[in-house]
Order: sequence, then structure tokens, then C-alpha cells
Amino acid sequence: MHSQRTVTTYYDQLAPDYDENRFGNSYGQYLDAQERKILRAWLPEASYPDNLDLGCGTGRLLDFAGHGLDASAPMIGEARKKYPEKDLIVGDATTPPFGAARFANVYSFHLLMHLDADKVAAIFRAAHQYLLPNGLMIVDLPSAQRRRLVNYRASNWHGAFGASPQEVRQLLGDDWELVAYVGIGFFPVHRIPVRWRPTLRKLDDWLCRSPLRHLSSYLVYILRKQ
Ligand SMILES: C[S@@+](CC[C@H](N)C(=O)[O-])C[C@H]1O[C@@H](n2cnc3c(N)ncnc32)[C@H](O)[C@@H]1O
Repeated sequence: MHSQRTVTTYYDQLAPDYDENRFGNSYGQYLDAQERKILRAWLPEASYPDNLDLGCGTGRLLDFAGHGLDASAPMIGEARKKYPEKDLIVGDATTPPFGAARFANVYSFHLLMHLDADKVAAIFRAAHQYLLPNGLMIVDLPSAQRRRLVNYRASNWHGAFGASPQEVRQLLGDDWELVAYVGIGFFPVHRIPVRWRPTLRKLDDWLCRSPLRHLSSYLVYILRKQ
């Protein structure tokens, strides 16, 4: 099993190039747009200052939160350049220094997929403590069913953890209500010739919300603290 240090060191080194490397291309821009659409739909604008971006990295999605936490100091350093006024701290999402009920909502993108089931469960437990009553937790995970379909094999820790909606339900127990889940990336739209992309995106959007959505590349879960 990989250590947290392996994961953090990887992002320490990637920090200066992360935005360009991951989100400067058409696939990254597509993911970014889809994730923003989901956050806009579920988080009331008035809650933004009281929300937490868990594993906020370089602050790509920090415009939806007043607070951010990340294990990598260089990633937080990049985020601080963009948002010097926000409350951004270095820390581990499994053991965050937040105490009881203080955030309205928490969201976390591209984090849980790097961890194992025990750490993911620890993150849900901690979030249950620091969220205010009825707070939402919005997280993404690779779809296990999609991965089985395409025979995906992770070569190392990077993005290795995936789950099906049934497995997520089991992980959550009675602490959370699974309010909804939506897909991201049903088709590899970024590999399709540019002139067909607008049409395919519409179909992609529709499939990501259809009964077949569990076959999208990623699933974004909207959970409510019970
Ligand atoms: C792929 S980046 C995602 C960053 C940001 N959420 C985004 O979507 O652009 C994963 C981030 O998770 C952070 N990370 C990894 N393990 C962590 C942990 N246990 N606690 C907090 N952050 C962690 C890494 O340092 C890295 O910044």
C-alpha cells in the first residue's frame, strides 16, 4: 500500500505546473466546467464564505469556498497566490484540525481517488463532525462499473480508488443521506473531432444524468449530513 508521503511528495513537485498540466488542455477544461456546473447547482451562493474545499490544491475551485485544506504546502502556496484573503491551511483531510460543526458545506474533487477505503471512511467521519446540521458533502470518485467495463488497471496509487454507488452507500452507513449522484465524462469528448464536440457534449450531459450514469468515468456524489 502507498503512503500518504508518496502522494503528498508527488503534489509538492507538481504544484508550480499543476494548473497548466491538468487543466490547461481541452479534457481538463471540460472536467472543470462540469464540476463547476455541479457546485453552482448545489451550493447556495450565500454559503460560499462558510464552505470548505477539502484537498483544495492550487485553489482551482476555491471560488466556491472561504476555507481550504490541503496536505501539500507547495499546492497551498499556489492557492494563496490566487486567494491571499482566504483561510487556507496545510493539513491531512483524514485528521483535520477543525473540531466540531463549523462549515456549511464541504466539497472535494480529485482527492478520494488517491486514497484507500479506510482513509476515505476517515474523511467522511471527520466531515460529519465539522459540518453544520444538514450540511452537504460533494465528492467525486471514479466509477468502478465503468472501470470494469473498460478493464482499467491502475498502475500505481494515482487515481487507483474507485467505487460503485452501492459501495459508496455501504461506506456511508447511517451518517449520510445520498441525495443524488451525477456522472462526468460518459464519452471521451476531448478525443472527438472539434466540430462534433458541441453535439456530443449535449448527449454526454444527458447520459451523465440518465439511469446509465453509473457508467460515466467519474461520479459526483451529493451527500447530506444526517
Ligand atoms: C488532483 S489534486 C486536486 C486538487 C483540487 N481539488 C482540484 O480538483 O484541482 C489532489 C490534491 O489532494 C491533496 N491531498 C492528497 N492527500 C491528501 C490528504 N490526505 N489530505 C489533504 N489533501 C490531500 C494533494 O496534495 C493535492 O493537492
